Amino acid sequence: MDYSAAVVKPSLAAAASRQRWALATSLSALLCLSLLVSVGILLLGSSRPFRPLFAVPQQPEAPWERYAKLAEAASLSPSPGGSVHDRHAAAVVAPAATTPGLDEDEKEEDDAISEAPAPAPAPAPAEKEGEEQSCDLFEGRWVRDTAGHYPLYEAAECPFLSDQVTCRRNGRPDSGYKQWRWQPRGCGEGLFGSGGREAALEQCRNRRLVFVGDSLNRNMWESFACLLYTAVPDRSRTLVDDVASGYTIFRAMDYNCSVEFFWSPFLVKLETKQDRTRALKLDQLPATLEQLRGADVLVFNTGHWWTHTGKLRAWDHLERDGKLVEMGGEAAFNMALTTWARWVDHNVDTARTRVFFRSVSPEHKSENWCYNQTSPVTDGTAIVPWFPKSMVSVVERNIRSMRAPVTYLNITRLSELRIDAHPSVYTITREGKPLSMEQRQQPLVYADCSHWCLPGLPDTWNLLLLASLARSPVNVH
Ligand SMILES: *[C@@H]1O[C@H](CO)[C@@H](O)[C@H](O)[C@H]1NC(C)=O
Ligand SMILES: *[C@@H]1O[C@H](CO)[C@@H](O)[C@H](O)[C@H]1NC(C)=O
Ligand SMILES: *[C@@H]1O[C@H](CO)[C@@H](O)[C@H](O)[C@H]1NC(C)=O
Repeated sequence: MDYSAAVVKPSLAAAASRQRWALATSLSALLCLSLLVSVGILLLGSSRPFRPLFAVPQQPEAPWERYAKLAEAASLSPSPGGSVHDRHAAAVVAPAATTPGLDEDEKEEDDAISEAPAPAPAPAPAEKEGEEQSCDLFEGRWVRDTAGHYPLYEAAECPFLSDQVTCRRNGRPDSGYKQWRWQPRGCGEGLFGSGGREAALEQCRNRRLVFVGDSLNRNMWESFACLLYTAVPDRSRTLVDDVASGYTIFRAMDYNCSVEFFWSPFLVKLETKQDRTRALKLDQLPATLEQLRGADVLVFNTGHWWTHTGKLRAWDHLERDGKLVEMGGEAAFNMALTTWARWVDHNVDTARTRVFFRSVSPEHKSENWCYNQTSPVTDGTAIVPWFPKSMVSVVERNIRSMRAPVTYLNITRLSELRIDAHPSVYTITREGKPLSMEQRQQPLVYADCSHWCLPGLPDTWNLLLLASLARSPVNVH
């Protein structure tokens, strides 16, 4: 398939830039909100299931940066300038000694609890597995659930769902968008019918799953946490910690399971200098990501933030080797993904850790306006992709070039069909309030056609993640 020929339509680009601020503001609102929430939780620390965790593991910054640079030097050394890093070559950094101390905190599971999930219907009947190994999970169609399995949970059941995505609570009148089940072509119903939440619990047992990326991966993390939270027999034995700004953990204690979210919209490091200018360092990962070591499952994404332009662009300049560099957004995107890919190749023990990259989550703007939409698109060809296809191929090319087996969660196409699944005007303002009637009448300004309602589409992304976890790791083909 030839992605390189794709061109962004001028009209699309114009409309996209008109509406970009909505994404940016909602992102910053989300950040502020999570800050507020974390402060609130730290101050109050009251509601029992959501106790604060004060032990924030602080990792020194320098070793990580050297590691990232080292990795880059190793992979890029033939290129001119690579030799700059040679002096680092001897400085092999020992792996971080600790990850947050789950083991010490966990008590032995008592029998009643460890048996609790067993009576539930088995997630994937064994006899189906052979057949299901072969089908492409990401090709298929949306069918209306008539068996009563969807939605997989109710928003009211998950106290930690962010207001931004609880569409019904924000006044969305229709609920049909919650009742669609993904049917991969050539597969049985599998996890998509029932058993998804139990599969989530089982996959998380004695594991640490980490989502890393932008607010769309946070959307996916919230969904995963809800799937788990509503499946555990004793919800009081769970907690949500806003450990630090941009770092949140859900834990199910009886399962020794943790699901974390690291906010890192570019994957590479964005640094605010003393003069307040912001440098996007294309050859370094943020120090906080050092805490990913030892995770059992990593789910990365990046994309949207690279397309922001003008005032919305999050960086003032690009840096490589500590020096200013000038290049287009797409070249920068490629360099950042290369840095990420080399880091994974050199630092992730893929015998222990499954690595996923979630493909771009489509927005529905311009020709494919999400406002007023109440059912999925049936004719996929009617959808005009908003994200430059050339950037999609940058992602795919980088993943293909990796040594580590990375599973590509190719959700772009199936999500493009879900024009009905965005919050649209049933979201919150920068101040965290539901949109007023007046604001709802100005969807061009206020509608959120980027994130997704919960319960909703990200639940399916997670079912796809679970189904992929049950298969052997495969590289992108
Ligand atoms: C708890 O989970 C961690 C991974 O998060 C794992 O390393 C550890 O072995 C588990 N503990 C037990 C008792 O199984
Ligand atoms: C959305 O629906 C409302 C009410 O039916 C209608 O007034 C409005 O024109 C529609 N907007 C668009 C963009 O289709
Ligand atoms: C991702 O899915 C789309 C459509 O389903 C397909 O055209 C594309 O080839 C897939 N990409 C990869 C790398 O598998």
